[in-house]
Amino acid sequence: MTDPGSDPAQARARLVRGLRTHGCAITPAVVEAFLAMPRHLFLPGVPIADAYADEAVPTQVVDGVATSSASQPSMMAIMLEQLAPAPGHRVLEIGAGTGYNAALLTRLVGPSGRVVSVDIDEELVERAARHLAEAGVTGVDLRVGDGALGVPDAAPYDRIVLTVGSWDVRPEWVAQLTPGGRLLLPLTVGGSQLSVAFDLRPDGVLESRSVRSCAFIRLRGAGAGPEATEPVRPGWLAQVPEGAQPDLDLVATMLDEPGKLHRSAGALERADVWDGLGLWLMLTVPGALRLLTSDAEDPPGYWLVPTGQGRATVAVAVPDGLAALVTEPSGVRAFGAQGETAVRRLRAGIDAWYAAGCPHAADLRILAVPAGAALPGEGAVVEKELSRLVVAPARA
Ligand SMILES: C[S@@+](CC[C@H](N)C(=O)[O-])C[C@H]1O[C@@H](n2cnc3c(N)ncnc32)[C@H](O)[C@@H]1O
Repeated sequence: MTDPGSDPAQARARLVRGLRTHGCAITPAVVEAFLAMPRHLFLPGVPIADAYADEAVPTQVVDGVATSSASQPSMMAIMLEQLAPAPGHRVLEIGAGTGYNAALLTRLVGPSGRVVSVDIDEELVERAARHLAEAGVTGVDLRVGDGALGVPDAAPYDRIVLTVGSWDVRPEWVAQLTPGGRLLLPLTVGGSQLSVAFDLRPDGVLESRSVRSCAFIRLRGAGAGPEATEPVRPGWLAQVPEGAQPDLDLVATMLDEPGKLHRSAGALERADVWDGLGLWLMLTVPGALRLLTSDAEDPPGYWLVPTGQGRATVAVAVPDGLAALVTEPSGVRAFGAQGETAVRRLRAGIDAWYAAGCPHAADLRILAVPAGAALPGEGAVVEKELSRLVVAPARA
């Protein structure tokens, strides 16, 4: 019997079974595309078992940081379901990488459709072309260029998908969509990366159809956006919401002044920092910020949520005070002279999250308009450079 770990067809079948079991690949066309496309041919030199594991595979690393990867299959499946490409669609993919997702897209749009895929890195595009030829895939129009600008000469597109994270919603992408078209992108919202499928409404507003949590490499080039984190003090970083400018020197000082721990029910998990309560606090509570430390051990005097690569938490800063969500035991810890004021503000945010029905990323509706346009609805407003977002629970 062939070792299922080394036989590509068996490994692929097992991967797809997992994608179906976990509800990532749902529609028959998406399942069929994953079954048909030999992922290992897009990852030459990678062992079959690794090529078909449900993991991202880094394919280009610069100074220890991955600048390209074959994305995690389950996330790709979730995003293809969000994108819903149909036969005959014209699709633009930004972030060609290995070419594997473009190959899946060609199956989904069929011979009457068109897939244009752009990457900023010429060498990656050359490699993607070789992978596609090896897999016998024709019909991907590969381009080298900065996807921040879209690919205007082949526009308009029924679907535009970024397989790379963006800080902003760029007008170029909106301009290159057909009326009613869909833009799917990993978008930074309150410091979290969310895979948002926006439909373009007749009034020009982008309205989300679905939102999921995700974690992608970020855009290079004109759409790179600001750094995701700012230094607080050695070993500590802060992630601040769009437009906020907390006094991080003061935050650094207050970390040495732990005060009272207010115990609360319910333990925090890693995901709570980035989704659910953490995301809500970042979007709705003035002064909210995430604190991240590379220390795997509990820093003395307070406890943060383990993330696998260190510890992180959501905190609220007020003048001369800080309050942070802590775990083990779970609760809210005050820091600094005005720590109790910060605790009250943080607790009000927690109460509001419960009152709203504990929304997570998937429960949110996001509207996007160009920067300076009238607000298209009610909710938390996130001001970007080129766009403004309004975020609220979908059922509100
Ligand atoms: C996660 S990888 C994409 C994976 C790819 N879709 C696949 O199936 O293998 C992200 C890609 O985005 C590319 N990228 C980064 N900035 C870009 C930009 N401004 N325009 C186009 N591509 C960009 C990177 O070079 C990288 O190859």
